[in-house]
Amino acid sequence: MPAEAQAVRQLFDAVAPHYDRLNDLLSLGLHRLWKREMVQRLAPVAGEKWLDLCCGTGDLALVLAERLRRGGAVLAVDAAAAPLQQARRRHARCPWLPVQWLQADAMAVPRAAESFDGAVMAYGLRNLPDPAAGLRELRRLLQRDGRAAVLDFNRGGGAALALQTQALRRVVVPVASQLGLKEQYAYLETSIAEFPTGDEQEQLAVSAGFSWAQHRPIAGGLMGLLELRC
Ligand SMILES: C[S@@+](CC[C@H](N)C(=O)[O-])C[C@H]1O[C@@H](n2cnc3c(N)ncnc32)[C@H](O)[C@@H]1O
Repeated sequence: MPAEAQAVRQLFDAVAPHYDRLNDLLSLGLHRLWKREMVQRLAPVAGEKWLDLCCGTGDLALVLAERLRRGGAVLAVDAAAAPLQQARRRHARCPWLPVQWLQADAMAVPRAAESFDGAVMAYGLRNLPDPAAGLRELRRLLQRDGRAAVLDFNRGGGAALALQTQALRRVVVPVASQLGLKEQYAYLETSIAEFPTGDEQEQLAVSAGFSWAQHRPIAGGLMGLLELRC
């Protein structure tokens, strides 16, 4: 694993015990709505096989699994051990939901091509060492009529960017500092600045082999949703 990928894994291992509480606090619980909206738009149906890449503590994988009961399944993949431990704990509260947790690199998922009907990735693409290669791997894993969506911060401009920067500097980093996680959350601003814009994400997705890609800002431009069709 390259040093950069190892650093990302260590970062999320350190954050894991506080991740869910901070996410709820810093998004005022809205991340749950954005994730549910993403799943609703993808319309997964019972019996399908889905993938949650960079699944973290597993909330999205379990929301997805609620829609896939009766023969369906979610493979939830994360590179870091500590978030997966939290995810397994969460799953223990609803063990009937069909999710398998796998510690693996989202850039090289150990599964055959075209294994999945659909995929989601929330706040993961930005953390991959090479988002273009990450999208190619995502495309490889999907069936010919597969669909996917990627939720993340939006790299916009103007008022939304100013608001995002102020929120990160004045709220997110100070709150995380109280838990000894200043550095881990300070990286957010840099990672967003280096993240492809919505237009660039659409182009990368088409180059990765998707036949259709549409990015739209949500939450007043603070977040973005990239929807994909094979
Ligand atoms: C910001 S968290 C998002 C977690 C979850 N999807 C959510 O929305 O709450 C990013 C996750 O991506 C994982 N991650 C980063 N790089 C990865 C990689 N190369 N392969 C798999 N997971 C990775 C991290 O371990 C972390 O759990």
